[in-house]
Amino acid sequence: MTRHAIYPGSFDPVTNGHLDIVRRCRPLFDRVTVAVAVNPSKHPMFSVSERLQMLSETFAEFDHVEVASFSGLLVNFARDRQAQAIVRGLRAVSDFEYELQMALMNRRLAGTIETIFLMPSEEYTYLSSSIIKGVALAGGDVSSLVPPGVETLLKKKAHR
Ligand code: PNS
Repeated sequence: MTRHAIYPGSFDPVTNGHLDIVRRCRPLFDRVTVAVAVNPSKHPMFSVSERLQMLSETFAEFDHVEVASFSGLLVNFARDRQAQAIVRGLRAVSDFEYELQMALMNRRLAGTIETIFLMPSEEYTYLSSSIIKGVALAGGDVSSLVPPGVETLLKKKAHR
């Protein structure tokens, strides 16, 4: 059996924290699909195609890591892709309540798909896509916090 995990998120934009989670989960699974959730009620900075592009570039050198987008229920996407696990990063206690709610709801919807939490390296525990967008839009340097291509895209958005 192929061990396949879905790593879902908004990835608006992908950060070095996300990258760290994929690095950690890669040896645990045969395949990892990094999946951008399409959520019409959110107003992301980057379009779905921009996010897919930046994820494809970020993970280009990673074996057995794919990039995809999905709309609707995550568990349906995971089932369609025959994945056994959903991976989420857990940074701090403040993440826990929301993550627990999602994990238990996903278990109720699809009892055979397990959610697995991975802790990022401590240097990324304070990182989030939102804080990076805020800093970049205000002209701050985020070069050590995001993959190189993402920094360029953030700079373009900041100068619009
Ligand atoms: O990066 P994010 O925004 O914290 O990711 C949240 C995400 C995309 C994983 C979550 O909102 C999600 O799974 N959305 C898909 C809709 C769904 O399946 N909802 C039921 C689970 S509570």
